[in-house]
Amino acid sequence: MGYWLIIAVVMAVLAVVYHRATRSFCFFEKRGIPYVKPVPFLGNLWEVFLRQISFAELAEKLYNVYPESKYVGFFEFSTPLLVIRDLDLIKSITMKNFDHFPNHKMAFNPDVEPLFSKNLFSLCNERWREVRTILTPAFTSSKMKSMFALMRDCAKEYGDYFASLSADQSREFELKDAFTRYTNDVIATCAFGIDVNSMRNPKNTFYVYGREATNFGKSKALRFFAARYFPWLCRLFGIKIFEQKFTDFFKDVIASTIKARDANGIVRPDMIQLMMETRGKLGPGKELTIEEMTAQAFNFFFGGLESVATLVCFAAYMVGIGDEVQKKLQNEIDKVFEDCNGQVTYEAINSMKYLEAVILESLRMFPIALFTDRVCVKPFELPPRVPGAKPYVVQRDDCVWIPIYGIQHDPQYYPEPKKFNPDRFYDDPKQMANCPSFLSFGVGPRMCIGNKFALLQMKVFLFYIFAKCDLAPCAKSCIPLKLETKSFAIMPEDGLWLKIEPRNAKKAMPE
Ligand code: HEM
Repeated sequence: MGYWLIIAVVMAVLAVVYHRATRSFCFFEKRGIPYVKPVPFLGNLWEVFLRQISFAELAEKLYNVYPESKYVGFFEFSTPLLVIRDLDLIKSITMKNFDHFPNHKMAFNPDVEPLFSKNLFSLCNERWREVRTILTPAFTSSKMKSMFALMRDCAKEYGDYFASLSADQSREFELKDAFTRYTNDVIATCAFGIDVNSMRNPKNTFYVYGREATNFGKSKALRFFAARYFPWLCRLFGIKIFEQKFTDFFKDVIASTIKARDANGIVRPDMIQLMMETRGKLGPGKELTIEEMTAQAFNFFFGGLESVATLVCFAAYMVGIGDEVQKKLQNEIDKVFEDCNGQVTYEAINSMKYLEAVILESLRMFPIALFTDRVCVKPFELPPRVPGAKPYVVQRDDCVWIPIYGIQHDPQYYPEPKKFNPDRFYDDPKQMANCPSFLSFGVGPRMCIGNKFALLQMKVFLFYIFAKCDLAPCAKSCIPLKLETKSFAIMPEDGLWLKIEPRNAKKAMPE
């Protein structure tokens, strides 16, 4: 009897759980919106969770499944959301009607996840506006110019390092590991005010902690999902995305740097300085606490470490496997060295059209954020999805996705989208980067605040690498690239392997 009772209870619980997981599956049917059939619990993400396809492939498949419709339905697990395909509608949601869609869906519990919940990406409404206003001056062109020298010092170190490897050392590199060290060093100096050299000193705490904190392996990805979708579970079991030691370490770095600068009157052209300068000016309740300052400096890690490192790797790889592109890039680099008399300047780097085109084309092909999202805070009527259909009203708390990867791989905007072709950006890189179909940094007031920083960091790095080295395919290179199905991030299946050799003496021009 007891045995049957247990089975009955288990069946009843399973039925309730199943009902809860699938009850929203008729959402789009009822509203006449086309959608892809979901599976219980995983929704439309099942192919990625079961490692059938990469997240990028899913993003593209979803974007292409109803090409005539301005928007399509999607299930993120059991939550229905709309994927907006139409460029005018994306502009309308993210810019003209920003007051209806001001937030990202990044609801983390501040008590459990201070670094995540207080960083700009996760902040909502008025606090987002206040903090974005505080941080914006840190990312103007003049601030970039003042940080340029810090970046150049790091990039030059790396160019010299790779060019100085002796013939008996291995010259085959997995780019991600090597290049993430550069990104880390730039963040350390520009955001945290610390000088480290992670290539020559690979075990420095800043790099080890930064890498561990932002490396979204299986366990961290699970904790991330739990924190996002089941915060109550995390509270109950004390589960955190970041271990306390990381939060404490970075908080200590910020607190001790501020103390040392106050005590010694040190001024440095970096992010900490800027946040320090806001003290006493923002009014009661609006001042940034140490925790908030840490969260903002951590923006660089969270927003800028993996993204810039991955992008720089893809860019270097695509250049390294294409002889013509590499030659063209090195010609431009050599000319700038010559014109600047060996003294590379901020202005000179920014005038390099081919370098910029290479970076934009890499961003187009490999947008680190495959989607971005917006949450509706007051109802908004979308136009009919096809002529003759009814308009659809997005309700408060509903989420919409902007399919960055799908759009940037759509041949109507970028002919032959799978071909790496920097020339498509060459004639007018600035205009192309601002056109509505280029979305790698997002769009509207919530666009990536670090985009100028990221572009400059990538330019300086590629400049020094290709000024001093030749990159070429090696036995482990995978051509054409196949994207990894084991991870949600956009990464190649077997890493990005290339041979890095010093350029021959005639071509290499040490500064
Ligand atoms: C290749 C490099 C990068 C890419 C591709 C990238 C991409 C993006 C995208 C797509 C968004 C969402 C925009 C939207 O929803 O419209 C975003 C937001 C953001 N990014 Fe980046 N990013 C990069 C580098 C950086 C860097 C270096 C930082 C350093 C501070 C950064 C900080 C942020 C922050 C704080 C936000 C949230 C902005 C807000 O909500 O107001 N990102 N980024």
